[in-house]
Amino acid sequence: MLPSQPLLHTAVFALTILQALASNTFIAAVYEHAVILPDATLQPVSPEEALALMNKNMDVLEGAIKAAAQQGAHIIVTPEDGIYGWRFTRETIYPYLEDIPDPAVDWTPCTDPTRFAPAPVQKRLSCMARNNSIYVVANIGDKKPCNSSDPSCPSDGRYQYNTDVVFDPKGKLVARYHKYNLFRGETQFNYPKEPEAITFETPFGKLGIFTCFDILFHEPAVILVSELQVDTVLFPTAWMNVLPFLTAVEFHSAWAMGMGVNLLSANTHNIGSAMTGSGLFTPEGPVAYYYNSETEEGHLLLAELSARPRLSPTYPPPINWSSYATSIKKFPGEKDTFSAAVRRDVFTFTELRYKAGNYTVCQGDLCCHLVYQMSNKSKDEVYVLGAFDGLHGSLIKYHWQICTLLKCKSPDQNTCGQPVEMAQTTFEMFSLSGTFGTNYVFPEVLYSGVQLAPGEFEVLRDGRLKSKHATSKPLVTATLFGRLYEKDPLHPLRTSPQHGSLAATRAP
Ligand SMILES: *[C@@H]1O[C@H](CO)[C@@H](O)[C@H](O)[C@H]1NC(C)=O
Ligand SMILES: *[C@@H]1O[C@H](CO)[C@@H](O)[C@H](O)[C@H]1NC(C)=O
Ligand SMILES: *[C@@H]1O[C@H](CO)[C@@H](O)[C@H](O)[C@H]1NC(C)=O
Ligand SMILES: *[C@@H]1O[C@H](CO)[C@@H](O)[C@H](O)[C@H]1NC(C)=O
Ligand SMILES: *[C@@H]1O[C@H](CO)[C@@H](O)[C@H](O)[C@H]1NC(C)=O
Repeated sequence: MLPSQPLLHTAVFALTILQALASNTFIAAVYEHAVILPDATLQPVSPEEALALMNKNMDVLEGAIKAAAQQGAHIIVTPEDGIYGWRFTRETIYPYLEDIPDPAVDWTPCTDPTRFAPAPVQKRLSCMARNNSIYVVANIGDKKPCNSSDPSCPSDGRYQYNTDVVFDPKGKLVARYHKYNLFRGETQFNYPKEPEAITFETPFGKLGIFTCFDILFHEPAVILVSELQVDTVLFPTAWMNVLPFLTAVEFHSAWAMGMGVNLLSANTHNIGSAMTGSGLFTPEGPVAYYYNSETEEGHLLLAELSARPRLSPTYPPPINWSSYATSIKKFPGEKDTFSAAVRRDVFTFTELRYKAGNYTVCQGDLCCHLVYQMSNKSKDEVYVLGAFDGLHGSLIKYHWQICTLLKCKSPDQNTCGQPVEMAQTTFEMFSLSGTFGTNYVFPEVLYSGVQLAPGEFEVLRDGRLKSKHATSKPLVTATLFGRLYEKDPLHPLRTSPQHGSLAATRAP
């Protein structure tokens, strides 16, 4: 439907005001929260007990929100599962859920708490936003009753959704997002029937939102960036770190670079479940990040970011990820390959036997090239160049194309691909490239001790991931992590690739 003339004028006028108020930068905050978990129980607790636990968590979040606002933050993101944890069945999470209305109803729970069903959590979050004049992003649970008029209605008569909410600085509900890519084991929740691409305008750019496992898939993550052109993605997550390629700060910073957007990533903090690693990530690299597997405490991160990164003079140019790799002859290395598994994925590897050299290794349609020089190779460390082109995952499968320079766990080749955090070898230089069949490639560089390498590497227009100078710390991995979304099996609720044409959209 086309908007009527007066409506259009109002919209244009509103846009002009927004632009007049618009600022070039904003201060963003993320809070890594050590969530207080409920006791594991098979019996649902009472709504009062559920609220008491959620209030304990919100007491902590309130402290972080106040502190962020006092330091000038315009927005704060808090983690997925940050208000009640994740140890639930469908029945035991029920007392924690609230009916969350569509933001189109124009509702400020802080000033009008009883307009809908009881909503003490939404009310409190709304008041925290309003009292501190700051956008508050949180993750809570939504419940929606249904009945036999809907053939997919669950037998208990309700849908339950893992849901992100955003309240503006007046406390108004401005966004609601139901998580589309549930992680295995998240059986307390339902999939929404359709993926939701949720965006909203602010004086500091157009924002989009999704959660955790969503970041690995096309819908809605890629749609938000490539089609809806958001400037900043809000990303509440409860991310379990998995070396060598899927540690939170490593992958999330690489995604922001590969997609060319800001990503405000707030992780849950739970050392027992390997959850730590939050950050403020930009197309140019990480501005601030946090990783700490020693403490049980939460942590607040703040930084000033560009509101419209695409308009920034430092915005990286578009990249053709296969241009260099397809233009050169293969380097040697293929004679000497071996196979080893990174978790369940069998990679083709070749060992970097010398202090410097040029190698190529191929698997499937992917050939990876590496030019490198080590500064101080330790005798008991083995590095490899590896390639993987195939479906990753056990229950939920999706297609990866990966080129990686990787430190092996031990000199035994069978350990190549096993998790390793520490290294001793620094590199004078490296340059990694691959014949990728996708525009969606995420450049990862991870140093010893799960540290990032901001400013120490670049991606050239022709797709080479290059060190700018000698690495300041020993290297664990440099990886080009590619996603071939169009080869993914269908989402569990899909019977046909409804958005087939979208699969080929180009990265910015
Ligand atoms: C917000 O401020 C009001 C009035 O100053 C106060 O009563 C209320 O407790 C505050 N709420 C929060 C969540 O800070
Ligand atoms: C069934 O659900 C629909 C939609 O939620 C609602 O309009 C209708 O009144 C419900 N019917 C009964 C019998 O509860
Ligand atoms: C990328 O470069 C390759 C090799 O030069 C070329 O064949 C291909 O068409 C380019 N892709 C795009 C999207 O420009
Ligand atoms: C490795 O490649 C680089 C540039 O791609 C080239 O300058 C160098 O001569 C090559 N070295 C060897 C030993 O082939
Ligand atoms: C190489 O240099 C780095 C940084 O200077 C140092 O931490 C590391 O221990 C050195 N490694 C070896 C094998 O000497």
